[in-house]
Amino acid sequence: MSSNASADDGALRILMVCSEAMPFAKAGGLGDAVSALCHGLRQLGHDVRLLLPRYGFIDLTTLEELPRPLGVPIGGQELWTAVYRGMLPDGLHGDTVTVYFLDYRQFFDRAGIYNTPGQPEYDDNPRRYALLCRAAFQLCRKLHWIPDILHAHDWPAALVPVYNRLLEAHSEFSFSRAVLSIHNIGYQGITARRQLDSLGLPAARIEESGLLFGEAINLLKGGITCADALVTVSPQHAIEITSPEHGFGLDALLRARQSRLEGIINGMDESVWDPRIDPLLPHHYGTDDPGNKARLKRTLQLEMGLAPRTDVPLLAMVSRLATQKGFHELCDHQRGALPRILEVLPVQIAILGSGDPRFEQRLRELSRLHPNLGLIVGYQERLAHLVQAGADFFLMPSRYEPCGLNQMYALRYGTIPIVSRTGGLVDSVDEFDPLNDSGDGFFIDTPTPWMIFDAVSRAVRLWHSDPEAVKRMRCRAMQRRFPIADTAAAYVNLYRRALSDR
Ligand code: ADP
Ligand code: GLC
Repeated sequence: MSSNASADDGALRILMVCSEAMPFAKAGGLGDAVSALCHGLRQLGHDVRLLLPRYGFIDLTTLEELPRPLGVPIGGQELWTAVYRGMLPDGLHGDTVTVYFLDYRQFFDRAGIYNTPGQPEYDDNPRRYALLCRAAFQLCRKLHWIPDILHAHDWPAALVPVYNRLLEAHSEFSFSRAVLSIHNIGYQGITARRQLDSLGLPAARIEESGLLFGEAINLLKGGITCADALVTVSPQHAIEITSPEHGFGLDALLRARQSRLEGIINGMDESVWDPRIDPLLPHHYGTDDPGNKARLKRTLQLEMGLAPRTDVPLLAMVSRLATQKGFHELCDHQRGALPRILEVLPVQIAILGSGDPRFEQRLRELSRLHPNLGLIVGYQERLAHLVQAGADFFLMPSRYEPCGLNQMYALRYGTIPIVSRTGGLVDSVDEFDPLNDSGDGFFIDTPTPWMIFDAVSRAVRLWHSDPEAVKRMRCRAMQRRFPIADTAAAYVNLYRRALSDR
């Protein structure tokens, strides 16, 4: 059966290619978003499979090895890899999504995904992910399973559309269409031109690939140029990235490809993020019995080294410590919002984060100075859930936010978000309106230190002056839903459009 036959009669074959997927490998929301989407597509009846690298920290013992080897011709040589097969855990429906893990020890058997924690990025990242992208095609050939859709996520998978267009146009993939989701345009996979040889593309076609970027090469740019359809992870951000202010140097190209670009908001995996059943929480709660939220606040305060006070609100962050997330505006020595909030407002703050060592150091300094700041530097999945559950407010003063999952989790957990007016935050949070007693969050108009302070003080003031209004807001927040089924359905429409354009 040709691959397009399956596309016409309903079920699609979809191969996701990605550097992260929960619960195997996660550095941020990408891992959550991709796994949730796989579950959503599977529930709609599609044959969706996922290709990931087999990083050093992924346990092989529960995986099944496919017959060896998988040869991947790239950069003038053939690399001999192995592939393991496992399933994506799904707490609600059973495990039905196949995951392939590409094993090539020299590239992937390392302590981190993109870098060893606290160190700069691995300098062979472009080669590592070029291998993953090229292997996607070899694997499908070996499995005799040719997907209708190759769905690549972010710069690590951005060579999939490039290879599909330049190397596979006349192969068994000639009917396959490549979709690229841009989760974070701030990371583009930019590297020196001399790395071009290792990507395995004929020199004569480099111009066409779109990879050239001044004196460098840019993997995301190549992917945007060659993809049959482009997505970013919220409608608002789809508009923003076509402007010079938010396009990170790719806005002109995105404007040129605007007819192929769509914003589809991420959905939530309700089997993982639901305070009524969350296995990572010691107590559960819902809209009709929110009582345990107060107990979880106390547990969180104790874990974060904060006094177990009930007379002040607890404001929290769980974040990559990155410029994107507003940490300059929070931490700046002269003007930062955080010291001012900690000194002036009757509030406690809990921060769980890891990333840029400069921010780690500055936050450590602030937590020594201010007993109302609880800080844990590190990456802890369990604690991230407890923070969402135990806090009163969740702060996201992002400079840009393509979608943001944390504010969705916060809403679901009745933790009122205070967010920048940007990207997916605009599409997912309803602004509090005291006159109509509506809305479920506070907005920071622009994430300057002053505006961050102002939004936090509005929230803190309401908590102290009108607890009933906060309760009603919390209740509205907990009723919000971001169904993965809707996200998956929007992707299916886009896939079908891409296929019908052939
Ligand atoms: P981004 O993908 O830009 O980091 P999102 O809001 O989309 O932002 O997703 C962040 C995800 O990463 C959430 O699931 C959040 O819980 C998780 N996360 C971020 N930092 C940490 C940390 N230090 N410990 C545990 N989880 C974290
Ligand atoms: C990125 C973005 C974030 C988004 C996530 C998942 O890392 O920064 O806004 O929610 O990807 O799509």
